[in-house]
Amino acid sequence: MNQNNFYITTPIYYPSGEPHMGHAYSSILADVFARFKRNDNCKVHFLTGTDEHGLKIQKAAEKNGLEPIIYCNKISKIFKNFTKKLNLSNDDFIRTTEKRHHKSVNDLWDRLVKSGDIYLSKYEGWYSVSDEAYYNSDEIIEKGGERFSTFSGSQVEWVEEESFFFKLSSWQEKLLEFYANNSKFILPISRRNEVVNFVKSGLKDLSVSRTSFTWGIKVPNNDKHVIYVWLDALTNYLSALNFPNTDDKLYKSFWPASLHVIGKDILRFHAIYWPAFLLAAKIKPPSRVFGHGWILSGEEKMSKSKGNILDPLGVIKKYGIDELRYYLMKEVSHGNDGNISLKSLENCINSDLANNYGNLCQRVFSFVKNNCKNKIIKTKNISEADKKLIKQTKNFTKDLRNLMNYQNLNNYIKSVISISFLTNKYINDEEPWKLKKSNIKKMNNILHLSLEQIAKISILLNPIIPDATTKVLKALKIKADLINLSFLDGKKLLSNETKISELNILFKKIN
Ligand code: MSP
Repeated sequence: MNQNNFYITTPIYYPSGEPHMGHAYSSILADVFARFKRNDNCKVHFLTGTDEHGLKIQKAAEKNGLEPIIYCNKISKIFKNFTKKLNLSNDDFIRTTEKRHHKSVNDLWDRLVKSGDIYLSKYEGWYSVSDEAYYNSDEIIEKGGERFSTFSGSQVEWVEEESFFFKLSSWQEKLLEFYANNSKFILPISRRNEVVNFVKSGLKDLSVSRTSFTWGIKVPNNDKHVIYVWLDALTNYLSALNFPNTDDKLYKSFWPASLHVIGKDILRFHAIYWPAFLLAAKIKPPSRVFGHGWILSGEEKMSKSKGNILDPLGVIKKYGIDELRYYLMKEVSHGNDGNISLKSLENCINSDLANNYGNLCQRVFSFVKNNCKNKIIKTKNISEADKKLIKQTKNFTKDLRNLMNYQNLNNYIKSVISISFLTNKYINDEEPWKLKKSNIKKMNNILHLSLEQIAKISILLNPIIPDATTKVLKALKIKADLINLSFLDGKKLLSNETKISELNILFKKIN
């Protein structure tokens, strides 16, 4: 794969209920990385979709009195619409009930059979339908006669059935070697340590087929078994690139995946099972798995089954999509869990968007409109204050690519918002309004630099708040071929003589 190509995925969502804030968070996070890479002139392929097989979905369909496929068609559509509401820039939306995916899963299965990694036996143990996961006895606790996973808190049931197994145990050493050779395969580091310790403690072979229900992809040449939904689901990342056609342009351009953005609850599947399946099938594993934390409400994971949902669509309707995107990206510490509330959302909108970036844009645009007929001419003189602002901005921008390459979005946003703060301060200190009569040239220079700063900040914030920043960049009349990160390498965004157009208010302050 070309270094300049970037394949990024979100987990494909279970269509077992309405999309919630956790889904929104996970998707927006991936979208920000995808948009950033596009702005950095990379060729990006960004994938999301729905994970439609397995007992969990079969049961949800039964509960709704619908055939599984009818039920999936309905809910998958809701998730697809949700991607639009979140303003995701995904290039594809895959459904695991599609033909292209079946073909791909069958091929991966055949490769695992051929490599001798699959054998028939009997599974006896605990299974959680809600997590679609097997648990060991030491991962189970009993409460009021029912049993639950200590890892996820989900209820488990005892399962005894004929099953195909994947020889995961034989991949333990090779996985440890793989983690050692690819020290950034799992980020953040705390999650990497968690995975390495788990693998070191010993891996058991994994049951990869079920016989007690039918809703799934059948094991090739054995209709009695359906393929374990996680082996099925993970393969979506290959299916979307037209695997098994490894000569396909998409596959050649984008495999191995650059980044799987996932929640910590599904880390084991992505960081242990997935590279093991791929290594066994002689396919290169992805470059990075980034495991984010959970969105919490109080102390609990926000989820439909827990009934503690802050409805994303309601929030978008009331506050706006850029506002929600900015809030989730800024306030949640991305490796950790994050508590969210309407109060802190409102504070964040006011402090960063309305009072800082929004105010900067508004004050400069309206000043230029009212005093300069929307036209600014820059002269050569650069003041000490200009030099200082340019230098400070450089200091804040020099590390930005690096921060994003390691998914350190919190520090990225902090740096960019600091540039906006400094620019506001520069304007306060330079007081261009006092120069209207006495020094028009200097006033023009101050406004020109302020507009150049606004342009830079808008490009940097564009992956996070695409709607507002697009309006600003349009009003600045910046040419499309400059709306990228090339200014970090010294390109000027505005010509010396700059004409702008009017800008309406971007963010309303919440009282
Ligand atoms: N279908 C699987 C993924 C298969 S990928 C091959 C799945 N689906 S899910 O709908 O349950 O979750 C999708 C993503 O949303 C996961 O990354 C999960 O961690 C994330 N979140 C679900 N609830 C969440 C929070 N409350 N907070 C943050 N993210 C959480 O897992």
